[in-house]
Amino acid sequence: MAGASGGSLAAQVTLGGGFGFLGAGYETIEKHRSELSIARSILKVDAQAPLPIGVGYLGWLLDDPKNKGQELLSIALENRVQAIWLSFGNDLEKWIQLIRNTESNREVKEKTKIFIVVSSVQEALVAANKWKADVIVAQGTEAGGHGSTSRTPLLTLVSSILAAIPQDCPPIVAAGGLVNGGHLASLLTLGASGAVFGTRFLLSPESQYTDVQRQALITASTSDSVRTMAFDYARNTLGWPRGIDGRGLHNSTVEDFEKGVDVDVVRSRYHEGAKRNDPDRIVIWAGAGVGMMDKIQPAKEIVEEIHRECTEILRAAATLLSEE
Ligand SMILES: Cc1cc2nc3c(=O)[nH]c(=O)nc-3n(C[C@H](O)[C@H](O)[C@H](O)COP(=O)(O)O)c2cc1C
Repeated sequence: MAGASGGSLAAQVTLGGGFGFLGAGYETIEKHRSELSIARSILKVDAQAPLPIGVGYLGWLLDDPKNKGQELLSIALENRVQAIWLSFGNDLEKWIQLIRNTESNREVKEKTKIFIVVSSVQEALVAANKWKADVIVAQGTEAGGHGSTSRTPLLTLVSSILAAIPQDCPPIVAAGGLVNGGHLASLLTLGASGAVFGTRFLLSPESQYTDVQRQALITASTSDSVRTMAFDYARNTLGWPRGIDGRGLHNSTVEDFEKGVDVDVVRSRYHEGAKRNDPDRIVIWAGAGVGMMDKIQPAKEIVEEIHRECTEILRAAATLLSEE
């Protein structure tokens, strides 16, 4: 999660028994190195040993020459992170090849797992058949942060992908609007191999969100989470590929944008609001499950709780069959 998940959150998720990702997002080279070393020190992993977390890169930012995409990616590879997550780019194949070529030049034995985010069957087929992704992340319209404008609900998306891709396909993990172990259990029974929780972890002390942002998430209801381009216009982050917008909490920035207020005015109000850390102006990305989140909890505890709930629910579900 760009701007929200750094080395500390990623490491704590892994310590809890999940698999944590840090979001490289808009980070500079120096910041990226420093977040990876934070993760390494929390996980107490030697400098040469593989790092049991992943790093997410935004394809369109890697593509922009001023962001030194190749250098950013090579930091993750030097750190031997176990996974790289790629999304929202016009040429993800180029970066997949770069990862694979770097690994074969270095004669790396354990290859970095490549996660590719998709939001349609067609994209899943490309990721599986053409790009040989190791894991496919099926992202439904409920997901917080950026995603497809196509508005396919998660259950429909996961079922359609599972029906369309071959038996020996990469595992599918489901993302979007998930809050608890019941959600995880339902997706596992549907046939997904795992699930991605984003917004839920914004409510951990280890996320890079501020207390003001966390409080806004706690008080938000489900209907407060909307898909919009308002925040990208306001922050001038407009390099996203076509067909991508973001899901966040509705506030006055969204209202101004929807009313057609001049973009310069929207921007200046946004930046004024940012100085005050005003939740009614700044972006607070949030998935559709936000209305079910009501407390701040350490990331490790969140993973453990989801796991416990999921196990209990799967056991209870099995009793439905034993009565046959
Ligand atoms: C604050 C925030 C930042 C995100 N940044 C990224 C990102 O950099 N790359 C990406 O592929 N997805 C990003 N996402 C989307 C997540 O990968 C994931 O699909 C989403 O959080 C799942 O939905 P949920 O938030 O309802 O759990 C972000 C989500 C949030 C909430």
